[in-house]
Amino acid sequence: MKTIDVCLTPDLMHLYSVADRSVVVVDIFRATSCMVTALANGVASISPFAKLDDCLAMKTQGYDTAGERDGKKVDGFDHGNSPFEYMVDEMKGKRLAFTTTNGTQAIAKSLGAREIIIGSFLNLSAVAVHLKDSGNNILIVCAGWKGKFNLEDTLFAGALVDLLEGDYVPECDSPIAAKHLYLSARNDMKAFLSNASHVKRLAKLNVFKDIEFCLTVDVYNVVPILRDGVLTA
Ligand code: MLT
Repeated sequence: MKTIDVCLTPDLMHLYSVADRSVVVVDIFRATSCMVTALANGVASISPFAKLDDCLAMKTQGYDTAGERDGKKVDGFDHGNSPFEYMVDEMKGKRLAFTTTNGTQAIAKSLGAREIIIGSFLNLSAVAVHLKDSGNNILIVCAGWKGKFNLEDTLFAGALVDLLEGDYVPECDSPIAAKHLYLSARNDMKAFLSNASHVKRLAKLNVFKDIEFCLTVDVYNVVPILRDGVLTA
């Protein structure tokens, strides 16, 4: 049977081989939720960058720069990291160069995988269907916060493990733990996450509606896939 595993933070990536797997990168608050929303709403492509300077350099090639550091839009960037910024008509057809504190770092650490796809609660079922069709072993990479564990990405991992149960066996204990965490939280994820570190961080920045939106399940049917360094729907 195929296997499923969960890397709880990018700093644990050295423990996993990605070459034969579909890797699902998740950063619920808010990078991957934002990427899914942007591509579902007509953004043409997203080029993810780990480094600010590499992202900024894309401006001269006709890209809009987008993303954040520590949750705040970067000075001089065209767009920030709220999903709501990407739902407007003006974003349609744009090519984005995107960098975030954790999400795009997790993508960079997953390079070399058989495929890299972008997961969020917003496209949870579409991701599950895609993974079953691809027939590969799966690694879910939680972006966490600066190398540390976070609850919301682990909840997503658990939700995906729960959906795929029966078709995949867990490779170690992290998928089992993530699933149990999700089962305890699923009836009210917002309440479960009320003390989560990044919820508190976003609250300090007065970002509230993003939290609720990013926890909404199956809003979009898109599965962003990284090909030649570019994410498209
Ligand atoms: C990240 O990559 O860490 C996040 O997207 C931060 C945020 O903007 O909430």
